[in-house]
Amino acid sequence: MTQGRKRVVALISGRGSNMEALLRVARLPGCPYEIVGVVSNVPGAKGLEMAARAGVATAVVNHRSFETREAFEEVLHETLLVFAADIVACAGFMRIMTEGFVGRWEGRMLNIHPSLLPLFRGLHTHRRALKAGVKVHGATVHFVTPELDGGPIIIQGAVPVLPDDDEGALAARVLQVEHRIYPAALWQVAAGKCRLEEGRVKTSDWPVAERARLFCPDVDILPRQD
Ligand code: GAR
Repeated sequence: MTQGRKRVVALISGRGSNMEALLRVARLPGCPYEIVGVVSNVPGAKGLEMAARAGVATAVVNHRSFETREAFEEVLHETLLVFAADIVACAGFMRIMTEGFVGRWEGRMLNIHPSLLPLFRGLHTHRRALKAGVKVHGATVHFVTPELDGGPIIIQGAVPVLPDDDEGALAARVLQVEHRIYPAALWQVAAGKCRLEEGRVKTSDWPVAERARLFCPDVDILPRQD
């Protein structure tokens, strides 16, 4: 029974593993959201196939077909309206959005970013984290505001940076945590327990212990004693 569930549209540009994680959780009993559509700005994005196989409606709004960012966003916005989206979940959506578009979805658009914001906004976050020599890295789910990767933070997940890590190994470890925190954040927003109010994230009835369990994946770093 889907009545009363928030209608979520996921925006993707590529692989779609976060979208898949959102979909997996959407099937759990009591989940307050459903994924009603997946929209990609890249034709042939791998995530589109996965969504279609899962029986989710897909659409492509190719940014290259438009002369301006605004023209692209106008059609993207209309597409979201066709899906009757309540919430927009950017899941590896690699487009910078204008203030006008973001304003239309204020408090209803989430993004996941592969770093512990405000560290490492933008691209190549894992490479930059390794270069900076940080010992803890991770991912952030935040409400989208016009400032790139600068919106109010809903939840973060952290992973250790290990001595032998290369970009791929670190990215894979962070991705595990992304797949945990994004569905959890979307769940809370869809349930109305996490909101954007006057530029700040307000949560109610989201137990700290539950959030804390999501912060770190179960990574074995220390040699076992037994
Ligand atoms: C994810 O790591 C996501 O955090 C990142 O792109 C990847 C998409 O993977 N997003 C950004 O960098 C946004 N600034 P996915 O398509 O498998 O979810």
